[in-house]
Parts: sequence; structure tokens; C-alpha cells
Amino acid sequence: AQRKQIDKVLALFQLTREQLVGIRDKMRVEFEYGLKRDTHPLATVKMLPTYVCGMPDGTEKGKFLALDLGGTNFRVLLVKLRSGRRSVRMYNKIFTIPLEIMQGTGEELFDHIVQCIADFLDYMGLKGAQLPLGFTFSFPCRQASIDKGTLIEWTKGFKATDCEGEDVVDMLREAIKRRNEFDLDIVAVVNDTVGTMMTCGYEDRNCEVGLIAGTGSNMCYMEEMRNIELVEGDEGKMCINTEWGGFGDNGCLDDIRTQYDKEVDEGSLNPGKQRYEKMTSGMYLGEIVRQILIDLTKQGLLFRGQISERLRTRGIFETKFLSQIESDRLALLQVRKILQQLGLDSTCEDSIVVKEVCGAVSRRAAELYGAGLAAIVEKRREDQGFEHLKITVGVDGTLYKLHPHFSRILQETVKELAPRCDVTFMLSEDGSGKGAALITAVAKRLQQARR
Ligand code: BG6
Ligand code: GLC
Repeated sequence: AQRKQIDKVLALFQLTREQLVGIRDKMRVEFEYGLKRDTHPLATVKMLPTYVCGMPDGTEKGKFLALDLGGTNFRVLLVKLRSGRRSVRMYNKIFTIPLEIMQGTGEELFDHIVQCIADFLDYMGLKGAQLPLGFTFSFPCRQASIDKGTLIEWTKGFKATDCEGEDVVDMLREAIKRRNEFDLDIVAVVNDTVGTMMTCGYEDRNCEVGLIAGTGSNMCYMEEMRNIELVEGDEGKMCINTEWGGFGDNGCLDDIRTQYDKEVDEGSLNPGKQRYEKMTSGMYLGEIVRQILIDLTKQGLLFRGQISERLRTRGIFETKFLSQIESDRLALLQVRKILQQLGLDSTCEDSIVVKEVCGAVSRRAAELYGAGLAAIVEKRREDQGFEHLKITVGVDGTLYKLHPHFSRILQETVKELAPRCDVTFMLSEDGSGKGAALITAVAKRLQQARR
């Protein structure tokens, strides 16, 4: 009887092929809505033009600074590009952003960022250098050019005041002015998906999609200019940051959302927003697992029916723990050890159930990603009128990198849902900072050509 109750909960996370096809098709409809000038009132996938129009061609050169804000780590980087040989040298430093700064005022946040830049310049012996800077800012921005980006709304764990509706490049410039210690030429602001696509595109010309499966969930791709109503001109292509994390915010995923998804959403910083992201990305998967475990415990099916203080604590299941628990090389005893580290006292049976719960939640996430990705590669195939499409997807993010099964399930799902596309996945080894530097190099070259 107990087994039946557990299976009933797990079944809520199992998607049929028909359901996945339905999700793929809904995502496709959202892409088309988002590209229209007059956005549909129910459109939730933002489809933001990025003003990035081409791939690096190997002639990029020079020294660039890059900032990388919005993922697990905040980094400041120095990137040296040498033309011809596609050789790149990078130096970087990771800085922490304390919670009270992530959720404090905008001024404090940008002052902190500039403080970190100052430390980095000091550390590199570059004080006083005037370098071009590329800013990877991994949040939805409305752009009118490559060096302007108005933050639409915070997502994930950020909530600093007085930033939404403001140009983040201006905010950074003002913070640099306030400090009055160095001058930097901010040339480009880019999303992490775009940076990732560029990093991979430097090596593989076929890379026309950037995918992040990390703290958050997002995808960008190269779109034909003629399909982008919001931007003038019909020639060539431009990269679109889809911000697909907002898929489902109009209720179109309600048939598959569970009570646990709703609980996670309600307990988040942005209730009602980013519903697809909350079913798929690292910041939330562990929370879904925790909600299920609480429910199973309440039903007396786990932890001897005792809900511990630990289990009530938000955020205990980080991506790295889920990844460890699901590793096939781990004996159950080790799973119990991990749970113990988390402060959860488990029996052997408990640990089996916990592992199954983690598996169901991460499998659904990978399949949902696969459905979204299938929608974009199919769209690209049809738009170009090809029978078959060969395309490379540049990928980054802790979930993709650390989880033992996520990438395989994602790839299988895309194959199944987009059978006429031959999709190669390319792991980005160097993060989006390198891509931001490449974009900065191209933008700088164009800037100088115009003068
Ligand atoms: C990295 C980027 O490539 O991937 C980050 O440099 C980005 O800025 C990240 O946000 C996504 O991964 P995570 O797991 O750190 O959110
Ligand atoms: C969130 C952000 C998006 C970013 C993604 C991955 O969805 O809104 O801009 O690309 O996280 O970091």
C-alpha cells in the first residue's frame, strides 16, 4: 500500500510522449508570438533582440575586461585575444555577492561590482588601464543597441531595488564614476546564453544556439532578420534571447504543474513568474524534491513520519547534492551519508525513495528542456526550408555539467521530438565571459570602422 502511494506521487512527474509533443508545439507558438511587433497579450516568452548579428571570425584581437554576473559565481575576467590563431588567454577571479547585496539597493549592488573590478585590476597590476569591457548580465534586458540594456525584471535570487526599468550599463557607468578611480569603456552587455553561444561559436561555425541549464534556464539562437518585426532591416541574422524561463506564465503549463511546483513558486522571490524555469533549473529542482519529501513524510511514508527542522529549511538540496544522490556509482549507504550531511536521518528504505524522487524530478526537467530545444531546432529547419538540419548547441550551467543523467535524457528527448535535426551538443569550457569578450571585440571593431 505504501509503495502505491509513493508511485502515485512519482507518476505526477512522468510525462507521456503526447504531453511532450504538446509542450514542444506550445513553445513553438510562443516563439512566433514573441517575435511579433504587437506582442500578444498572453505572450510570455520574451524573444529579446540582442543586436549580436554575427559570429566571431577569428580576426578579433586585443585585451578586454569582462564581467560575468547572474550565475553561481560572479567573475571578473581579463581576456586576451590574438587574431589568426584563435588563441585566447584568460585570467579571472571569482568574487562573492552576499545575499544582503543581491537583495539590497541597486546602488549597493553596482558599488560592490565596481569594488570587485577595482580589486581585480589591482591584483592584475592593471590599475589605471583603460580597457574595453563586456558585461555578461544574466537577466532579461530590453536592448536598443549592443551597449544598452534595460532590466525588465529580476529573476532567480536577485532582487535589488531601483534596477528594474533602468539601463544596467548606465548603472555600471555611474558606479564607476562614483568611485572616481578608473575609467572603463563599456562596449557590450550580453546574456549568458549569448556569451555561451559565442564561446562555442568561436570553435564551431555551426553553433547557432546557446543553452543554459544552471541556476536558471534559458536559450538563445540566431534568427533571420526578416522574422524579427521589432528590429528594422531584413538582411542577415540576429541573436534572439528567448527568456524561455517565463514559458507557462500564462497558464499554458497548468495541466502538468503539480502541487509541489505551485508550492515552490509561492515560496520564491517572484511568485507566478518563470514557471518553466522553476520546473527545470538548478535553483528550484532541489526545492521541488524537498516539497515532495515533506508531503511523503506527512503521509507517514518517509523519515518515520517526522518532519525535521532541516527538512523545513529552504534551499538544502543544491544541484550538487541532487547530482551526487543520483550518481549510479553510489551505494545506498553513501546516499544515506549525504542525507545525513544534510541533517536528514534516513533508513535504507528512505534513501531508496529519496533517490527515486530526485530521479523523477530531474528526468522531467531534462525532458522539458528537450521539448523546448526540439521546438527551436525544428523552427530553424523549417525557416531555412531544409529537409535535414545539422546544428550545434553550445551549453553551459551546473545542472548540465554536474548531473549524471540530465544531458543524456535531454539529448534523447531532442532526438525523439525533432527527428529531422542532427543536433550536436558542445559543452562550453570557458564560461560566457570569453564570449562577452569576443562580442566586445567585434563591437569595438565596428565602432572604429564607423568613425
Ligand atoms: C557560465 C557563465 O558559463 O554558465 C555564467 O559564465 C552563467 O555566468 C552560467 O550564468 C550558468 O551556470 P550556473 O549553473 O552557474 O547558473
Ligand atoms: C534566468 C535569466 C536569464 C538567464 C538564465 C540562465 O532565466 O532570466 O536571463 O539566461 O536565468 O542564467
